[in-house]
Amino acid sequence: MNRRRRIYEGKAKILYEGPEPGTLIQHFKDDATAFNNKKHEVIEGKGVLNNRISEHIFLMLAEIGVPTHFLKRLNMREQLIQEVEIIPVEVVVRNIAAGSIAKRLGIDEGTRLPRSIVEFYYKSDDLDDPMVTDEHITAFGWANPQELDDMMALALRINDFLTGLFLGIGIRLVDFKIEFGRLEENDTLRIVLADEISPDCCRLWDIETDEKLDKDLFRRDMGGLVDAYQEVAQRLGILAESRPAAGSGPVLVTDNSN
Ligand code: TMP
Repeated sequence: MNRRRRIYEGKAKILYEGPEPGTLIQHFKDDATAFNNKKHEVIEGKGVLNNRISEHIFLMLAEIGVPTHFLKRLNMREQLIQEVEIIPVEVVVRNIAAGSIAKRLGIDEGTRLPRSIVEFYYKSDDLDDPMVTDEHITAFGWANPQELDDMMALALRINDFLTGLFLGIGIRLVDFKIEFGRLEENDTLRIVLADEISPDCCRLWDIETDEKLDKDLFRRDMGGLVDAYQEVAQRLGILAESRPAAGSGPVLVTDNSN
């Protein structure tokens, strides 16, 4: 396993060559970073939880017809995915003002936005992921107009679905970031959901208490990240009801691998 060829290492994940051509293995690390890597910590158990939460969400999205890169989970930290050409644009969907939009536009955190707002950011660590418009995306050829339309439509469908999914388990979906890739299928290119959807890239607030259940706990030095991610996993039905004893790590339901 350790001799696998590493294709790419990001802040929270590693991509290895997969067993078949056109596949990759996506490995979830315990590393947490914020502010473009200026803040970094290793949080034991985070990768395992994100792997499971993201698997669960990608499988549900596939059920409603959202095409994704996900093939199957391989073990506690890894999933088999289809190799795609990542579009270098982060798509953020916001329902409630928080984080950068609250600061940029002077809106109180927690204010419901007039409607869901989609934003784009150019994926560039050197430039700190600057916000861009659809004009930049098509002019610079990061995606063509049809691909951009597909990304917008999928982002809004994903938002509707996830909003309902989380509402059903007492969680408000404040905002999230997703990434898309191009997948070659029968000589045509198709836009599919890639990367991950986990509490690392969403803002999730408890409906009753407004308690944060996402990576803002790390960004804002509030602590309790693994407990919060476990809470999300448990409410999604991925984790056993009984809380594991402190230090014993997450206990996963129906985990028959590794
Ligand atoms: P923002 O309010 O900081 O712009 O973040 C919007 C959403 O995108 C939030 O759910 C966190 C997520 N996000 C990432 O996943 N990666 C990033 O690099 C940033 C800046 C935000």
